[in-house]
Amino acid sequence: MVEPDLPSTARMIDHWLGGRDHRPVDVAAATAFEAAYGPCAAIFRSLRAFLGRTVRAVAAAGVDEFLVFGAGVPTCGNVHEVAPGASVLYTDADPETVRLGQRLLAGSDRAGYGHGDATDIGTLDPAQLRRFVPGWGSGPVGVVFLGLAAFLDDDTLARTLDELYQAAAPGSWLAIDFDGTELAAYPEALAMMGPAFRMREPERFPPLLGRWRPTAEGVVPVARWRPVGEPEPVPDAFHGALAWRPAD
Ligand SMILES: C[S@@+](CC[C@H](N)C(=O)[O-])C[C@H]1O[C@@H](n2cnc3c(N)ncnc32)[C@H](O)[C@@H]1O
Repeated sequence: MVEPDLPSTARMIDHWLGGRDHRPVDVAAATAFEAAYGPCAAIFRSLRAFLGRTVRAVAAAGVDEFLVFGAGVPTCGNVHEVAPGASVLYTDADPETVRLGQRLLAGSDRAGYGHGDATDIGTLDPAQLRRFVPGWGSGPVGVVFLGLAAFLDDDTLARTLDELYQAAAPGSWLAIDFDGTELAAYPEALAMMGPAFRMREPERFPPLLGRWRPTAEGVVPVARWRPVGEPEPVPDAFHGALAWRPAD
């Protein structure tokens, strides 16, 4: 593997989750971020546990196909690992992350990885969609949209979620998270997130869901979304929801 010049948030998360698919440049960036903010591993473990609980809830509702946007590294309790009976298409806009994902999933007949810009579903490969999410547009699927909303402005995010709503069949589900204002008190760490990163006050989250209907929990700190036992004692950095698409 060619040594990457720049860190990637996806591989930094892999480092915090205790995975094996990151490089020294990612560890250096993660260490610098923690020097400016504080420990991150427990926060990302909590976010990944939220992914697990939402994906299992969707699978328990009888849905066995998932389409994942901004997927990052497809390991460490990711969708096909927590829903072993499901078929999963992971997508990401970053070519290096796509290559890594394809290498990790090579040989899998129920999980694939391809290029996709979440803000334009026309960028997804139709052949991969047919193979891994054959019900897309005709039957219920689970859409996973985690770690992405913070990098999209309100208009783009609302339009994207509405396009996904329109494209997904009734009975489909959306797992999503938003970044709150946790980093406001850590300007150095906030600057490291880059110019596209946006924090939002929690009351701004529900309207962005548009026609997607959140479950009774609403949009809450991820550790408090249907916790198993006591919620993990982590800062409320990420708020999340599981929402569904009713019939028109
Ligand atoms: C913070 S990481 C989150 C990775 C993973 N979802 C997780 O929670 O561990 C954000 C990921 O979104 C990808 N990304 C950013 N903008 C995107 C877009 N418009 N469409 C698809 N992926 C995008 C990045 O390449 C990166 O892998």
